[in-house]
Amino acid sequence: MTSALAIHDGVAVIALDNPPVNGLSHALRCSIVDAVAEVNLNENIVAAVLIGAALPFSGGADITEFGTPKSWEQPDLVAVIEAVEASAKPVVAAIAGVALGGGLELALGCHARVALRNARVGLPEVKLGLLPGAGGTQRLPRLVGVETALDLITSGRLLPAGAAELKGMFAALVEPDEDLLEVASSIARSVARSGELPSISSLPPAQPRPEIFDAARARLSGSGERYPALPEIIAAVEAATVLDFAAGMEVEKAAFKRLIETDVSKALRHGFLAERRASHVREIGADVGVRRLDTAAVIGAGLMGTGIAQCLAAAGIEVTLLETSEQATVRSEKSVDDVLGRAVAKGRLTAKQAEAQKALIRWTTDYGDLRNVDIAIEAVFESLEAKRAVFEELDRNLRPGAILASNTSTLDLNAIAAFTQRPADVVGTHFFSPANVMRLLEVVRGDRTAPDVVKTAMQFGRRIGKVSVLSGVCDGFIGNRMVEEYFRQAMFLVEEGALPFEVDEALEEFGFSMGPFKVADLAGLDIGWSIRKRRAQERPDMPYSPVLDGLCEQGRFGQKTKAGVYLYADGRTAVRDPEVERSIAAFSQSQNIARREISKSEIVDRCVLALVNEGAKILEEGIAQRASDIDVVYLAGYGFPDFRGGPMFHADSVGLDKVVERMTVFERLQTRDPAFWRPAPLLQHLVSTHSNFADWTNRSAMENL
Ligand code: 3HC
Repeated sequence: MTSALAIHDGVAVIALDNPPVNGLSHALRCSIVDAVAEVNLNENIVAAVLIGAALPFSGGADITEFGTPKSWEQPDLVAVIEAVEASAKPVVAAIAGVALGGGLELALGCHARVALRNARVGLPEVKLGLLPGAGGTQRLPRLVGVETALDLITSGRLLPAGAAELKGMFAALVEPDEDLLEVASSIARSVARSGELPSISSLPPAQPRPEIFDAARARLSGSGERYPALPEIIAAVEAATVLDFAAGMEVEKAAFKRLIETDVSKALRHGFLAERRASHVREIGADVGVRRLDTAAVIGAGLMGTGIAQCLAAAGIEVTLLETSEQATVRSEKSVDDVLGRAVAKGRLTAKQAEAQKALIRWTTDYGDLRNVDIAIEAVFESLEAKRAVFEELDRNLRPGAILASNTSTLDLNAIAAFTQRPADVVGTHFFSPANVMRLLEVVRGDRTAPDVVKTAMQFGRRIGKVSVLSGVCDGFIGNRMVEEYFRQAMFLVEEGALPFEVDEALEEFGFSMGPFKVADLAGLDIGWSIRKRRAQERPDMPYSPVLDGLCEQGRFGQKTKAGVYLYADGRTAVRDPEVERSIAAFSQSQNIARREISKSEIVDRCVLALVNEGAKILEEGIAQRASDIDVVYLAGYGFPDFRGGPMFHADSVGLDKVVERMTVFERLQTRDPAFWRPAPLLQHLVSTHSNFADWTNRSAMENL
């Protein structure tokens, strides 16, 4: 049963009950239609209230049904809403939690709405590459006006029910200490008494505002091609100003049908579900508990450590930041003040909120102050010796049961855990810089990390607003291990014939917000240089092109020195440097490499498929739990274009047989390290079994290869 019907004093309560968020699945849709029919048949009922049974009102259409016949099966959502609106007895929506997408559309089809003041509503379909497909583009502008409707539907943002923009949407706003059902029932009775059944669809078209649509189209510029939902939304909302309701619904319906089949929508839906799936750790079930995490410490108050502390404070967690000198703590405190000051100036925080966040952070130089913390996150210099010193201190000072986390991005977590007497309590929490901004958190499970520590760390990530993805131990974990191959290809391309700006342009056209050379200049070329030097010693089997080493030798480290691969006269804007381009040509000549013209598609495929090949190895080694987790790492942490769904989803979309074909070509073309292009065994296995990354879940199958 997905909705239950009970009658109180003549009002039928239709309680939606489809966990976790009352997604409007086929079963729930059927049960609403049945309940409304029952309301109309039963003479003891004068009106009905639609409400979530101990759940949010509704998170919208059931996204997991999209792409399956169930999503179109009658009654579809449009038919459900028509049945509600056509009811001869009033139906009132009582909204707690959220009413989103189809959930809000259902509420708009009711004869009145009541909401908890703190409930949130919105039409976020655009984030899934869609437009509202159950009347949202036609009813919302009629109710709140074109400007607000267009803004809400194109941005997908949520608003609290009490927001001024939503004036007129709710018959009553209910305070958290009031009884939502009681208020909704009383409004339902008074609508029944009035004898009138207000319906939004019978309102005249919304007032035309051509200037608003022109401005919205002008703002689109190129983004309409990447996100085809945007121009469709503008056209559908415009239709609500010039067409009658039924004709406007036809415009919306046709657009929804087109959009749901687009690769962009499929990719965005994949990203949404992948992000939620990533939080589930396969072998750790509901029987495993979590540890208490109310207070934290961060060791190392540099840029990263201070960013992590701010992120914890923003989530309301008390945090002690430990440094070795007073001078360092003063610097860190100033950087917190600067960040909070900027947030207040931009209106993202009130002065009071900023003050409250600051009050949660304190600085110390004494490990003795950490005795009672629940978790300590080490964020010191990347050297095993530095980590040893910290972890030995933590082991001596932290209470039993506290979690010892390391922010290492490259070092062996098992070696770090072995510095302590409690390796089961040690876990990796790899933040991305700037830590208070970037959404990704790689949670690294060591060989001896306890299951409850893994579970606690994953939930902790979510609590501080991050997307947690589980990784096993390997050099670079999921993200950096793959990105190393991406950068290696970018440099090979340059020595073989492409110029850095061509590589950047090709990848930016693919959808990355910045090409690899602009990213390298931003991060500092010295970082890559030191990795290359280390690799030359540790892994001579992993050759790099030294094409950029000359720049580093001249002290050109990127934006921070106003010169790197590009010149930065103003410190920010990248300008091509003919001197660098000449030196690249000279370098190729010195290596006897005959430079050739390299197409944009080769540039994109060499860089992106390098991610895919390494990703396949990461999967087959069991470092990542599933291909979609790798996509989440790239979407949340590396600026991979969301409308392509992540590298593994992209590879599946291209077709793995084609991917392998391209790799075979690259093996012939590439001058340095052609062997990299031998497809990973998992890739070959998937091609030979006509399968793909999305369907591959069974690592043991690989062991028999
Ligand atoms: N359909 C199916 N499952 C959904 C869902 C939906 N619309 N929304 C959320 N879920 C699932 C998630 O996948 C997750 O599953 P899991 O437990 O297996 O991991 C679970 O619900 C909880 O989701 P969250 O982790 O996101 O929980 P939160 O409490 O943080 O957030 C939420 C809840 C605000 C509802 C958030 O999930 C959300 O924003 N959902 C998507 C809303 C949306 O985009 N709605 C539009 C759908 S398209 C539509 O309605 C078309 C219509 O116009 C015709």
